[in-house]
Amino acid sequence: EKGGWSSFMAKEISEEPEAVANTILGRVHDGLVSLKELEPIGDEALAGIDRIVIVACGTAAYAGMLGKYAIEEWSRIPVDVELSHEFRYRNPIITDRTLVISISQSGETMDTLMAVQHATKAGARVLSICNTQGATIPRESQAVVYTHAGPEVAVASTKAFLAQVTALYLVGLHLGKVRGTQTDEQIRENVIELQAVPEKIAEVLSVSQAEIGQLARWMTDTQSVLFLGRNVGYPVALEGALKLKELAYIHAEGFAAGELKHGPIALIEPGQVVIVVVPSPRDPHSLHPKVVSNIQEIRARGARVIAIAEKGDAAVLPFADEVIPIPLAGSLFEPFLAVVPMHIFGMELAAAKGLDVDQPRNLAKSVTVE
Ligand code: M6R
Repeated sequence: EKGGWSSFMAKEISEEPEAVANTILGRVHDGLVSLKELEPIGDEALAGIDRIVIVACGTAAYAGMLGKYAIEEWSRIPVDVELSHEFRYRNPIITDRTLVISISQSGETMDTLMAVQHATKAGARVLSICNTQGATIPRESQAVVYTHAGPEVAVASTKAFLAQVTALYLVGLHLGKVRGTQTDEQIRENVIELQAVPEKIAEVLSVSQAEIGQLARWMTDTQSVLFLGRNVGYPVALEGALKLKELAYIHAEGFAAGELKHGPIALIEPGQVVIVVVPSPRDPHSLHPKVVSNIQEIRARGARVIAIAEKGDAAVLPFADEVIPIPLAGSLFEPFLAVVPMHIFGMELAAAKGLDVDQPRNLAKSVTVE
């Protein structure tokens, strides 16, 4: 039940901190990650994996993109992310040293189920990340790591996304240990970062809800919104754009900020709303000044800039029309925080337009046909 919330989506966004916390619960021992769910594959086989392919659709695929950054960083195994429906109709290069990770909230998405079957037939080891106990996809997989986001009713996925990213990060840390690419000390540091995420999400929720609601109310006539992000901010931009399309029926596109000058900047005209995910000024890849200069470029062409930036990031202030602050976190953990305003934004804009937040037109919660 909605329990006093205006929509299931509002309730589910409020549950984002617990979705992460509950997915970590019971999987950390002595500060290290141990996923006994991976036993059917076995640590010996995992140590020999030479390639990972993540298959998923929609929001789950964006979670997969974030998983790529973390898993590559921690395990040094190359990771590809493929949309299930694209993967399935190729002759993918798969061996018994390939680990295919499927991600699905419902566990019933036909495209992803078919991709799992395709991968199994080709001889891959298949691990699924799923939010629904006993669903078809986990039943057809060699191993399953369940996300514990709780039932998700709203068609637009929110808390399940955060739980999926959490599960992928746990898999990444497990692999880092098995392969010896992370020291115990490094794993412990990352576990501490991950365990700090729920409280930081709660902070984002309490700080940004009112501000985003207000923003949404002046944007009800907006025709198009662009989203920019770089590195781990890129999947967050894609997720923000998808939420706006499906919930508020507004044309929205997410771009990698570095791609701006390769074409999309031509779209910028006075009044164009651009939402930018700004990396921390402490970003290890030094991307912060690059994104700030992207903001300057689009601002100079009259764009209206809404920045999602680390709190206290003074460099953004002079160039952004609005800043939504997020707490400090390590680079790989920022998406957990930056995506929350995206979810609130989609919901608030749909509500401000008088649309059905939980049941957008033309969509089903689980897509069980091809
Ligand atoms: O149940 P699944 O996670 O397999 O669903 C995948 C997509 O259909 C789903 O994430 C969809 O994109 C949502 N409507 C996004 O909010």
